[in-house]
Formats: sequence, structure tokens, C-alpha cells
Amino acid sequence: MRCTFGFVWAASLLGSSLGGPVKDLYARDNAVTYFDPETGFTFSEFKAAYSLSSNILYRVAVPSSVPAGAAYDAVLQIVAPNQVGWAGLAWGGTMPKNPLTVGWPNGAKPNFSSRYASGHTMPTAFTGATYQQFTTGNKSNGTHWTLTVKCTGCTSYTGTNGAVRLNPTGTNRFAFAYATAKPTTPGSNTTNFGMHDVFNYWSHDFSQGQNPTFATLVVKNGGTTTSGDAAL
Ligand code: HEM
Repeated sequence: MRCTFGFVWAASLLGSSLGGPVKDLYARDNAVTYFDPETGFTFSEFKAAYSLSSNILYRVAVPSSVPAGAAYDAVLQIVAPNQVGWAGLAWGGTMPKNPLTVGWPNGAKPNFSSRYASGHTMPTAFTGATYQQFTTGNKSNGTHWTLTVKCTGCTSYTGTNGAVRLNPTGTNRFAFAYATAKPTTPGSNTTNFGMHDVFNYWSHDFSQGQNPTFATLVVKNGGTTTSGDAAL
């Protein structure tokens, strides 16, 4: 019996390393395409595990056919369980020196803030990125809250080593952070909030969130277009 058990155990470990959980882990490190029926945007979606059993969804939609080197806007959608007090996205994959978008529940309509950290201290307001919160895709129910915003200035910024432009058709290193504690003044986007409980990194594949009619969708969802929305 002991021998059989040992064999089965060894075989399942071998199986795991060849195809089972390894494949699952790999799959979790990639964004997949998600079509949002409410807004009409096609998003690249990543499930950021903040515990062994719970995820925050980070979705990014970009215009198709962005001209080489041109600045472009992106739509960010965050879907988080109600136990998440705030959820942040670091567009350059580190806490300091890149645009941070921080969202949190605030009654029927979640609130958010544009932030920037020069180090590992509370990020302050960042005017290098500007946002529009859509009339759609901003809600909460008994289980989740959903934030949907368009950002101008999140995909190009000045980082530690100079100008950075995220690849509109490829993978970009992202990071997220979350805390269960809510911000001090949820109705204000200059609110203070405490340090995160968890953070992590991933490669977000923008090729999964291409939108040939990006500018049209921006208007349909209550936004106004800028030059960065143009899909040629
Ligand atoms: C009150 C607000 C915050 C405080 C006090 C804070 C503080 C810190 C500290 C002390 C570390 C280093 C932790 C360690 O080395 O173990 C850290 C790391 C990190 N924080 Fe924050 N943080 C805050 C907000 C945020 C926000 C809004 C984000 C946005 C996504 C963020 C993203 C990260 C990431 C990705 C790391 C990993 C190290 C790095 O990439 O720099 N933090 N934070």
C-alpha cells in the first residue's frame, strides 16, 4: 500500500509539473480578451489574485492602429469584491515614478484618483494623467464594485530613466496593490489611504484589448474624445 501510494504521489507531482497547475499558473500570467456588453469595449483582462481564492479584475482597452510613437488613451476597468477597500494599478509596474490609478467603492458609484509616488510613501495627486469617468461601467452591487475610466497620460510618462511609452499592441509590465481598509474620505479623490496589504506584478498583453471603434465607444459611454482616441 505504501509503495502504491508513493507511486501515485510521485506520478501526480510529475503530472503537476508537466501540465496541470503549471499550465494554470502560466495562464494566470496573461491577459485574455473580455468583451464588456455594457460599454461595448473589448478589454484585455487580467485576474490579479490578492488571496488564494479572490481576484481583482484589471481590464484595459486601447484604440487599434495607434500610429508609431503617438500618444494614446486607454480605458481602465477595475472589478473588485466589496471587501476590497482600495485597488491600485501601477501603469509602469512599480510603485514609484509612474502613473498610479487608485479606485475604491463609494456608495452607488466608485471613486478614483490619479496618483504618483516618488518613493514608498503615500502617493500624491498626479496631474500628468487626466481621466474621464464614464456614465456606464461605474456601479456597485451586493458583491462587487466596478470602476470604468478613460485615461489620457497613463500610457506615456516620464519614468526613472526618461520617457516611457507602453506598447499599444504588446505586453507591458503592470503592478497592482490593494488594501481591505477603505480610504479615509471616500467621496474625495484627494483622500488619504493606508498602505496596501498585497501587491504583485504581471505582463499585461494589450493585443487582447484592441478597439477599432475606440473613439465612437468613448462618446457612446459619455466621454469626450481627444487626439489619443483616434483609430486610423
Ligand atoms: C499609503 C499608500 C502607500 C504606502 C504607504 C506604500 C508603501 C509601500 C512600501 C513601504 C513598499 C515597500 C514594501 C516592501 O519592500 O516590502 C511598497 C511597495 C509597493 N507598492 Fe506601495 N504604498 C502605498 C500605495 C501604493 C499604491 C497606491 C500602489 C499602486 C499600485 C502601490 C504599489 C506598490 C508596489 C507595486 C510595490 C512593490 C515595490 C515597487 O514596485 O516599488 N503602493 N509600498
